[in-house]
Amino acid sequence: MLRSINQRRILSNRYTFIGGTQGAWRVVRMSSFRGAGLRAVERIDIVTGDAPVPRADAWSLHGFTSNVRYGTRAEVTTLAARQPLLNRPEAGCAALIPIKKSAAWWGLPQDERRAIFEETSRHTAIGLEYLPAIARRLHHCRDIGEPFDFLTWFEFAPQHAAAFDELVARLRATPEWDFVEREVDIRLERVE
Ligand code: HEM
Repeated sequence: MLRSINQRRILSNRYTFIGGTQGAWRVVRMSSFRGAGLRAVERIDIVTGDAPVPRADAWSLHGFTSNVRYGTRAEVTTLAARQPLLNRPEAGCAALIPIKKSAAWWGLPQDERRAIFEETSRHTAIGLEYLPAIARRLHHCRDIGEPFDFLTWFEFAPQHAAAFDELVARLRATPEWDFVEREVDIRLERVE
């Protein structure tokens, strides 16, 4: 019994982003910021739970939510107080930004990665400036045979699209981004 409850909990943190012709999110623009892009598609469908059977006309990216890696108690508390939920009715815009970091990044010990991520690059501090306008969910996918390490997902209202562009530009200018070797930027609008 306990085992089946645990299995359900594990499955429910899995997400598949399917790029193709179906789904609630229409692709507005799609570009490669660094490295190889992804095949252009019309829609993105997001499936929660067990990975669906791959569709011939589409690509699929798999990820899962996980525990905090770098956040301190103070950062986690501030984030929890400020970050909005996904699926707000006014949040008609979204971004899916799959990211792969370099072998040099993964070769660093945890404390040095944290130092670059926050003390040098101020990732959380910069991101917090854009809350609660931007809702987010981070999916991990390193070590599961996926082409990226992270699938980052953001939702916001149309009037915050320029602020989101500014946020992305600020993060890309930080030392953390020296370790990003592949990044695809997919902007979306909700159709349902
Ligand atoms: C909306 C404001 C944002 C906030 C508040 C925010 C906050 C955070 C936090 C707290 C983490 C670390 C989680 C942990 O401790 O494990 C994180 C990780 C990450 N974020 Fe952001 N972020 C924001 C925007 C962005 C944007 C716009 C991008 C992409 C362009 C991005 C890409 C990433 C990536 C790739 C990671 C994983 C880094 C790693 O583990 O190496 N974030 N973010």
